[in-house]
Amino acid sequence: MSKTVTPYQNQATKKEQVADMFNNISKTYDFLNHFMSLGIDIIWRKKAINELKKDQPKLILDVATGTGDFAFEALKILKPQKIVGADISAGMLDVAKQKIAKRGLGDKFEVKLGDSEKLPFEANEFDAVTVAYGVRNFENLEKGLTDINRVLKPGGKAVVLEFSKPKAFPIKQLYNFYFNYITPGIGKLFSKDSRAYTYLPESVAAFPDGEAFRAIMHKAGFKDTKVRPLAFGICSIYTGIK
Ligand SMILES: C[S@@+](CC[C@H](N)C(=O)[O-])C[C@H]1O[C@@H](n2cnc3c(N)ncnc32)[C@H](O)[C@@H]1O
Repeated sequence: MSKTVTPYQNQATKKEQVADMFNNISKTYDFLNHFMSLGIDIIWRKKAINELKKDQPKLILDVATGTGDFAFEALKILKPQKIVGADISAGMLDVAKQKIAKRGLGDKFEVKLGDSEKLPFEANEFDAVTVAYGVRNFENLEKGLTDINRVLKPGGKAVVLEFSKPKAFPIKQLYNFYFNYITPGIGKLFSKDSRAYTYLPESVAAFPDGEAFRAIMHKAGFKDTKVRPLAFGICSIYTGIK
C-alpha cells in the first residue's frame, strides 16, 4: 500500500483531517470543482453513471456523496427508486441537503452521516454502490471497499470514479503542471483552506490507480473488475461485481 498522505499532516487520523478539510471547503466545493475541471467533471460523471444503465438499479448507495452532485446525476440518468448518500463530512452533507430541498427531491435522495469503512447499513441492501472522487480520501482503502462490497446485494455492481495518473507525453507533463501549480493557486484564492488544494495532487500521486486499484478491489471481494481510463488517464472508472 502507498504512503498515507493527509491534508494537514497533524496528529489527527486521516479520516478526521479529511472530514475537517471538507467541512472547511464545503461552501466553495461545487464552484471550484466545475471551475478547475473546466466543466469536464460533468462528462466524466455521466460516463461513470452510464456504467449502470444496463443494470437499472432500484436502490443505490452513493458513498462519499459530498454535496451530492454524483447522486443528482445518477437520479437523472438512471431514475432509480431511491439514492442514499453517505459521507463523513457534515458540512458537505448540509450543502447536499440544501440542494435536495431546493430541487424538491426529498423523496428520492436522502443523505446520512456515515463512514465508508463502517457503513450504517445492513448487508446485501443495495443494487449498486457508487463513489466519485472519494476512495482516494479513505483512510483504509481495502477496508472501505470491503464494506462497500458487504452492503451490495449479490450480483450488484460498484462503480468508482477517481483521478488517476496519465502516463503519456505530453498529457502527463501538462497534467502535472496544472495539478501541482494551477489548482493549488486557484484553491488558495477562492477557498478558505489553502492546504486542501495542495493535498489534492499529493493524494492523487500517492493513490494506487489502474491495475493496483483493481487488485485491491479483488482483495475486497469484487469479481469481474474492470478499469476504464478517461481523458488519457486523467480519471479512471472502475467497476466490480459482488
Ligand atoms: C472530493 S469529494 C467528492 C464528493 C462527491 N462524490 C462528488 O463527486 O463531488 C470527497 C468526499 O469524500 C468524503 N469522504 C472521505 N472519506 C470518507 C469516508 N471514509 N467515508 C465517507 N465519506 C468520505 C469527504 O467527506 C468528501 O465529501
